Amino acid sequence: MFEEAQYFSPVNEDEHGRVTVRLARGHPGFADPAYRERRDLIAGLAVGHRRGDPLPEVAYTGEEQEVWRLVSAELASRHRRYAVREFLDAKERLGLPEDRVPQLQEVSDLLEPLTGFRYLPAAGLVPLREFYGSLADGLFHSTQYLRHHSMPLYTPEPDVVHEVIGHANALASDRFAALYRAAGEAARRVEGREALEFVSRVFWFTMEFGVLQEGGELKAYGAGILSSYGEIEEFRAMDVRPLDVREMGSADYDITKYQTLLFRAESMDHLEDVAGGFWEACDDDSIAALAV
Ligand code: TRP
Ligand code: FE
Repeated sequence: MFEEAQYFSPVNEDEHGRVTVRLARGHPGFADPAYRERRDLIAGLAVGHRRGDPLPEVAYTGEEQEVWRLVSAELASRHRRYAVREFLDAKERLGLPEDRVPQLQEVSDLLEPLTGFRYLPAAGLVPLREFYGSLADGLFHSTQYLRHHSMPLYTPEPDVVHEVIGHANALASDRFAALYRAAGEAARRVEGREALEFVSRVFWFTMEFGVLQEGGELKAYGAGILSSYGEIEEFRAMDVRPLDVREMGSADYDITKYQTLLFRAESMDHLEDVAGGFWEACDDDSIAALAV
């Protein structure tokens, strides 16, 4: 997709507290000084945020609002066709605005009474243990910047569109929220790095890129598919395998491209049994036995 594409551009804070985001050459915003300035400013808000303070408010520009409107509209029609029922109902229940970028505080305030989940601002990559562990407390770390306007249909770098349209809508479902929490509890329980990575891979192939058989059709529930109107058109043509914890926990993936390997649950119940059951019961030893 992008040359030298990367997951999360590195965020740097210098000795004067100046925050800069390093976009790779080849990032669609690399040669756009105005975009780079926005990225630095928005990352700075997250760096400066203290737990318990109101979430930082971003004064989104007209161009950013336009990206949100475009992507929301492109996704809305595709969600109706390709998203699982549970996601569509949760989306309806959450009621996010489609005509402007919601502030993370608003997202959090809409979500909390539904499933107890709250949002926290993230400048960039959050360490695995912290990102997943926080899910156990009903906390979701979220970026606040928008993808570059020249590439609205897909970004390898999670942005507020992905975090909110993909994840917050899912987190408004009691059933999905319980799965996120279970993954978080698993991430807290395991001690080894390998086990943590195994837990996070199962999350990747389910809550990020999961698909599910519904009414005789293949539908998506993974936030990564549901936030990209490029990728959502392609998932049915991929290598779709039966849901299998051992396979998901060990499979490799390229974060910078449309996912070519997907795992299919036969129903919500099946997903809960297999992925939920795994996260609820796993520990370092059970994972070591699976990962051989
Ligand atoms: N590709 C997603 C989109 O365009 C966003 C995204 C970037 C993502 N990195 C991810 C999704 C990793 C899931 C996992 O909306
Ligand atoms: Fe995600």
